[in-house]
Amino acid sequence: MRKKIVAGNWKMNTNVDEGKKLSQEICEMIKKKPLKTIYGSPGVILFPPFVHIIEIAKIIKDVEGVFVGAQNCYSELSGAYTGEISAPMIKSAGATHVLIGHSERRKLFNESNKMLAAKTSFAIENGLNVVFCCGESLEERENEIHFEVIRRQLKEGLFWLDIESFSNVIIAYEPVWAIGTGKTATPDQAQQMHAFIRELIAEKYGKELADSFSILYGGSCNAKNAQQLFEQEDVDGGLIGGASLKAGDFFKIIQSF
Ligand code: PGA
Repeated sequence: MRKKIVAGNWKMNTNVDEGKKLSQEICEMIKKKPLKTIYGSPGVILFPPFVHIIEIAKIIKDVEGVFVGAQNCYSELSGAYTGEISAPMIKSAGATHVLIGHSERRKLFNESNKMLAAKTSFAIENGLNVVFCCGESLEERENEIHFEVIRRQLKEGLFWLDIESFSNVIIAYEPVWAIGTGKTATPDQAQQMHAFIRELIAEKYGKELADSFSILYGGSCNAKNAQQLFEQEDVDGGLIGGASLKAGDFFKIIQSF
């Protein structure tokens, strides 16, 4: 059975105390009403800013099915790269996952598919699981090239991994026009793209891996629309931005399967 996952991308929000409080609240709620066993492991991944990771790793330590990850990492192990953080550093802080290829990083920081491929490789080689984001812009969807765009992002960013490495990846489909806009993809649009992604995985890595591979939806997913999205056959959970900053809303989303 595919792992059901809800991940919270906090982006550049909360200071350390606020982040600790938020993760404590989420953990308290989960402890009172543990994740359904159907989730398997991992169930919940929190992606706070880098400087929170050490503290949050302590908070989630004894809560089953909850993990912490970084929002980015660099594609070198160490050295003269002022301001960057490497995968081993992230791991040593207590994180198990890293987010790679978020559209904000692609757009604002000019991260190319080639760069993302290198980051993914370093992260996996150094023991992190990767949540790899892909998604088309509004213009690309209106021009009906969205499937082609996703195919290219996955081919150039991910599909050169060997099968063993690829099994440490989770894909998040996040249409750029839906991120932070309040405009969610319809359940049908999400299902169509997720099924397409699963087909691409099957072509490259075989049906068995594709069938057990988790594909998350992201883009204005919230406590109200999560259930409809998660009901779709190929939607295995969500990558949540805005709605992950309120413990109550995030917990409702976790309970939406
Ligand atoms: P949003 O962000 O839920 O606020 O749209 C999702 C994301 O960027 O991961």
